[in-house]
Amino acid sequence: MPPRAPTGVPHRERTTLSTLITGIGSLVTNDPGLGAGPLGLVEDAAVVVDGDRIAWVGPAAAAPAADDRFDAAGRALLPGFVDSHSHLVFAGDRTAEFNARMSGRSYSAGGIRTTVAATRAASDAELDANLARFLREALRQGTTTVECKSGYGLTVEDEARALRIAARHTPETTYLGAHVVAPEFADDPAGYVELVTGEMLDACAPHAKWVDVFCERGAFDGDQARAVLTAGAARGLVPRVHANQLSYGPGVQLAVELGAASADHCTHLTDEDVAALAGSRTVATLLPGAEFSTRAEYPNARRLLDAGAAVALSTDCNPGSSFTSSMAFCIAVAVREMGMTPDEAVFAATATGARALRRTDVGTVTVGARADLLLLDAPSHVHLAYRPGVPLTAAVWRNGVREV
Ligand code: NIG
Ligand code: FE
Repeated sequence: MPPRAPTGVPHRERTTLSTLITGIGSLVTNDPGLGAGPLGLVEDAAVVVDGDRIAWVGPAAAAPAADDRFDAAGRALLPGFVDSHSHLVFAGDRTAEFNARMSGRSYSAGGIRTTVAATRAASDAELDANLARFLREALRQGTTTVECKSGYGLTVEDEARALRIAARHTPETTYLGAHVVAPEFADDPAGYVELVTGEMLDACAPHAKWVDVFCERGAFDGDQARAVLTAGAARGLVPRVHANQLSYGPGVQLAVELGAASADHCTHLTDEDVAALAGSRTVATLLPGAEFSTRAEYPNARRLLDAGAAVALSTDCNPGSSFTSSMAFCIAVAVREMGMTPDEAVFAATATGARALRRTDVGTVTVGARADLLLLDAPSHVHLAYRPGVPLTAAVWRNGVREV
């Protein structure tokens, strides 16, 4: 017999404990109502975590009691990173291609097919283990929310399998059957678009939240991209677009026109593209790891921010163009090379990343938000840019559970 409470009401064990995290030297809340500037910075702060949520945020001196206590010892606490763009269901790697690129060869979309071959040949268990390893790697660096795309299968079965596997690990799954034209359709790109918008979409839609397309020379043109995104949208998938990465093109305008959550890369933008983003709900997601690893020109974050566009930062983690899971690295590069201030870059890697995923429960440290937190081995979030390449993770909580 389970124990009973005296009232006769079935007794329930309290399964969650609250924790007071106190002694926070500098807290990034991302809520200007809670503290200074757009980051809503609170000094000498405390946070109460109750179950999987934030229950209280404020000055340490006013903090309520909790079951448990964690002393942050003057270090900086911020929301866990929201990495809104990754390609982590894959097998193999492309060391040789990277090596060749660093010896002077240029990047083209074609390398994707190398990973497609390795991914098709891998078992479900291998793909799952690979994905879990990269998610763990990201978590150790403070990333608590990750979007993950398909796109290295390019058959009905392989794309659906990628999304099934991704969905075991994250709700942020993106159907990217339109990554490149599958090798079997090299002479029939229209036939491939038909597959992607038909049978493949049918198989993938149940496992995906988003639909994406690589709108680029060598991948899909504006008309093909429109067909893919509108077919996905008709099945309830919200568009996001690989737009204007390698060249100028129609991707950004299409993303804005279709109300995409995000236009990603945004490296080559006309004034009209910038104005369209600024006048829309579509987030410009910049992926500095891709330009770093392909030795390409960085996107101009300053231009977008000054125009009033919402800018997110993400890793684009994939074995070809950007094999980094480090949001801290992206922040450092964005500050050094793309005209962002450290505050803007941290906001972009947390709050605006959440916005790019249309999530209101992550990306801030506010009452009711998910208790996804990163404690730095540093007194300020500015150290993420100031100390590039240094592992600064002191602790990570996800859904209120201490993971690192
Ligand atoms: O976002 N641009 C297209 N897709 C990836 C590259 C994938 C690959 O090279 O394997 C990107 O950079
Ligand atoms: Fe990408």
